Order: sequence, then structure tokens, then C-alpha cells
Amino acid sequence: MGYSNASGDTDFRNAIIQMLNFKRGMRLSADEIFITRGSQMAMYLSAQCLLRKGDHVVVENPGYKPAWQAFKSAGAQILPVGVDNEGLIIEDLKLLLENYGSIKAIYITPHHQFPTTVTLSLPRRLELVTLSNKHGFTIIEDDYDNEFHFGQRPILPVSSFENAENFIYIGTMSKIVAPALRLGYLAASRNLIAQVTELRKIIDVQGDNIMAQAVLQLINEGHIKRHLRKATLHYKNKRDFFEKVINQHLSEKVNFHKPEGGLAFWLTPKQETNLSKIAVKLLDKGIQIISPQDFSFDKPINGLRLGYASLNEDQLEYGIKMISSLL
Ligand SMILES: Cc1ncc(COP(=O)(O)O)c(C=O)c1O
Repeated sequence: MGYSNASGDTDFRNAIIQMLNFKRGMRLSADEIFITRGSQMAMYLSAQCLLRKGDHVVVENPGYKPAWQAFKSAGAQILPVGVDNEGLIIEDLKLLLENYGSIKAIYITPHHQFPTTVTLSLPRRLELVTLSNKHGFTIIEDDYDNEFHFGQRPILPVSSFENAENFIYIGTMSKIVAPALRLGYLAASRNLIAQVTELRKIIDVQGDNIMAQAVLQLINEGHIKRHLRKATLHYKNKRDFFEKVINQHLSEKVNFHKPEGGLAFWLTPKQETNLSKIAVKLLDKGIQIISPQDFSFDKPINGLRLGYASLNEDQLEYGIKMISSLL
């Protein structure tokens, strides 16, 4: 109930370290973890401590704009790199490295790329780590939905690679419990964690320790584990249902792959369409989608990211029928 460590509640930090070390193949010690109010705060604080005005930060295009905003607010220049069916295109990154000489960081969502849901392939992961070590740029890995993967084997974070030297690994409780919790974490070098901790002291003194202790109780009593087991099965069934209705009503109009995990599908209309207009029309019918300009760097990218997790089967089918009629 009192003032405490600005890097987060000690017991909660230990619980997160244990989870990251045992479940996600990391090798973290107590001073390499920091508890935030969600991933967004992790991105903002890391950006403020890592970046200087004019630094170059590479991002995936399409990608997660709220992260880009955090880098821009620290004065960084954003450089987009394309994404294909293996994830971030490494050849494009190499071109940027040649053209710009130095790059400070790259922000990636390799588990299920936002918004395309693609998992970064193993060869590209290896190449990315090699490039990061060679050129000294930091890999900022946003692992926002790590818990929800329906394949046989878990995919370990890029930051867990034994030879990864420069990384900031970001996770959140937003998908496991709820976005309103505002609980997340970042794992990074001792030095960066120390800087982030000093910054937190000026603006926030400490995190939401009461919430952290409440969630820790849920972890210690096994509720989170049970919830995750149930939720994963629930979402897997819902993903399969969503695939079925897309196949029924939309398969002639869009291309898509059933995602291996995550809580969204990525559909690309077979004909180039003004999706921003469609987003406005859908809103009139009570359906909210992410408009392409919300994840495209400059010109809107021809794709729809449809989240299915919070909707029931009737809502999902109604939404797909409406999209089909508008396409
Ligand atoms: C790419 C990405 N990162 C992070 C988050 C979660 O953000 P936060 O932890 O701030 O709620 C989301 C939520 O949708 C996301 O899509």
C-alpha cells in the first residue's frame, strides 16, 4: 500500500520473469523487467529512453500505428518495410540499412503480424538477429497476443534467441484478461530498464501495484492458467466458425489464410476496393472495422483486419454478410 520500486511490484515482476523464462525461452534476471500500464506505455517509455531526435526507426507496413506515434513523439523518423507471407521483408530492411547508414531500432510484431496475422518465418528471424547484432540496432518486439496460438508448438519470441544482443521485449495482459486492466511489461537490458525506471519516477512514481497484486493473486491461485486453457479452446472454435462463414459468404470476393493464432483474420479483396468508404458504410449498419488508413504508412493497403474474439456467432455472420454485400 506504500511507495515501492518504480519498476513495478517485486512479486509481480518475479511472476512475469518466471513465466517468460519458463514458457517463452528467455533468460531474464530481476533487474531486466519493468511493469507498465499496458504495451503502449512500454513503447512510449522505451522510445523516450532509446531514441534521439532524427533517429531512424524501421516499422512494418502495414503495421501498428499507436507504436509509430510513440517513436515519432521521441523525434524519430519512421521508415516502412513491407510484409509478405513470411512476415517482414528482410531484403527491404537491408536496402534501408544501405541507404540510411544507421538505424536505431526496428519495431516488429513477429508472432502474429499486425494487421496481416502472418508469423515471421524462422530464416527471417535468424537473419534479423544477425543484422541487429552486426548493425547495432535494437529489436523492439511487441508480443501482444503470445498466449493465443493454436498450432502444435509454441513459437518463441525473437528476443529469446540466445545470440540476440539488443532487444526490448513487450507483453501485455490486455488480451489475456482485459485492455482496461492497463498492465503490461517490458524486458530489456539492465541499463535501459534503469533509464525507464528513472523516467517513470518523474511522471508516475510507480505503477498500479494494487492491480498488479490482484492479478498476481489470480496467477498464484491458478485462475489465469485455467482461464487461458478455456479461452484458447473457445477462440479456436470461434476462429473455425469464422473461417466457415467467410468461406460461405465471402470466398469469391476475398483471399485469406486461416490464421494459426491471434484473434483476427486478414482478408484481401480480390478486386481493389475503396475500403475506407466501406468502413464508413459498415458503421451505418452498426459494424465497426479498422479502416486501412489506420495501419497503412501512406497509401491505404488493400486489406481488412477483422477481429472475431469479442463477437458472438450471429454477430460474426451478420458482419460477414454485410461486408460481402458491400464488396
Ligand atoms: C499490435 C498491438 N500491440 C499492442 C496492443 C495492446 O496494447 P495495450 O497493451 O496498450 O492495451 C495491441 C492491441 O490491440 C496491438 O494490436
